[in-house]
Amino acid sequence: VEIIIEDQLDKLTRKYNNSGGKPVLVNFKNLTNKMLNGFPHNDKLLHYIHTYPGRISPSIAFYFLSLNEFKSLKGYVLDPFAGSGTILLESLINPVLKRPALGVEINPLARLISKVKTTVLNEEEINKSLIKIKNIYEKVNKKDYEIPSFTNIDLWFSKKAKLQLAKLKFSIAKVKLNDNYRDFFWLSFSKIIRKVSKADPHIPPPVVLKPIKYKNNPKEYQKLKAYLKAVENPNIWLLFEKSVKENSKLSILNKLTELVNNKIDAKIISDNAKDISIDKIRPCGNITKNGGIKLSDESIDIILTSPPYLTAQKYIRSTKLELLWLGYSSEELSKLERKTIGSEYVTKSTPICLLNIESIDKLLEAVYKKSKPRGIMVYEYFANMKIVLSELYRVLKKEGYAIFVMGDNVVLKKHIKTYNLLTNLAESIGFKELLTLKDKIRNRSMITKRNGTGGIIRNEFIIILKK
Ligand SMILES: C[S@@+](CC[C@H](N)C(=O)[O-])C[C@H]1O[C@@H](n2cnc3c(N)ncnc32)[C@H](O)[C@@H]1O
Repeated sequence: VEIIIEDQLDKLTRKYNNSGGKPVLVNFKNLTNKMLNGFPHNDKLLHYIHTYPGRISPSIAFYFLSLNEFKSLKGYVLDPFAGSGTILLESLINPVLKRPALGVEINPLARLISKVKTTVLNEEEINKSLIKIKNIYEKVNKKDYEIPSFTNIDLWFSKKAKLQLAKLKFSIAKVKLNDNYRDFFWLSFSKIIRKVSKADPHIPPPVVLKPIKYKNNPKEYQKLKAYLKAVENPNIWLLFEKSVKENSKLSILNKLTELVNNKIDAKIISDNAKDISIDKIRPCGNITKNGGIKLSDESIDIILTSPPYLTAQKYIRSTKLELLWLGYSSEELSKLERKTIGSEYVTKSTPICLLNIESIDKLLEAVYKKSKPRGIMVYEYFANMKIVLSELYRVLKKEGYAIFVMGDNVVLKKHIKTYNLLTNLAESIGFKELLTLKDKIRNRSMITKRNGTGGIIRNEFIIILKK
């Protein structure tokens, strides 16, 4: 079956210009299905090897990476906010043109997901290693392994869950394995953490589950009561084995000869989008700074990314139980939280300066007048994004494209068109705006209810810029 590739962008740009710059409504799922024309894109399943808040729809990445207009751009795709690696993987498996991809990401769990998701592994090897881990798991003595001592561990995990998880962690660390395989098992381990915790499965940041909160929905109430009972006495090994089996489907990456022969690959290169360097990625999502070798100027063909939202998502906090079990300390997590753009943790004493962009400054002044902390938060978001955008402008080739996928927000009950403000910011740095698209959001894994200050995200806006 042939993949239909149209010069869609050109058509959409005309539509955008004719409408006087109103975002053009599209449906990426339908567009993608039309382009695929019955061609199965089963590899999509690989995206779901681990949950992550704020994942974007693979269709959006598929659409842009398949465009005829981008056919001559055969070089690197960069995702400076790589999250769980949706864009990195789509870049490798695109049926029209496979491109090498680079990712930058502050959250170590997201780095681990991205890495494992784009690494070629062999199923037989996975099965053999699983047996070795099981041998250790079954024989290990209680006095040999250590139970982590992070704050409130007993609030989140039953005694039995805690003991078995510690035993499994010890077994994965102990077995003789190549780093890529061990990371695969770390990820399969991480995947079961939330499922055996007492955290409410309906709320992304861990909150202790209180079934009584759901008493108006008797079916859910009963289900959650049973859930709480089950986490008191889980069978960690069985859950782990299931998670390994599910994740083994990654081995279909073996079919991609370009990948197997190392012609292309995807790599997480760094942790901070504000200063993109080429660092060393180590096991378990760790990263070592490598003396600050900067990513070269004008080395990237396409930047495709979904930046963090203005005050909408708690990436570190939502993944903290997994991160703690993977060995990151509470202190490290607080530091990461502060480096995360869009986080609510801001320093109250931060002085606010205007950014000399009318639309943003107007918003800043209005918010600051009503609430100082909110004002600082909005300021930090745009000040940080300005640094990121300058860095992206630096690494993008002339005539290269930068595509940002993002939502709108509500701050202090006011609807904020973040995509417009970000476009203004990008233009002040030198980017040229081509067009903005809009897609109604369906099931992004981030839609959390927030109490008046954040707002629920309903639309996805896609800004397309050129250098
Ligand atoms: C919307 S999410 C990306 C989701 C991704 N597209 C996916 O499909 O999984 C935004 C990401 O930006 C990351 N982030 C926030 N501040 C960052 C920074 N300063 N440098 C790099 N990444 C950052 C967050 O940790 C989060 O994973």
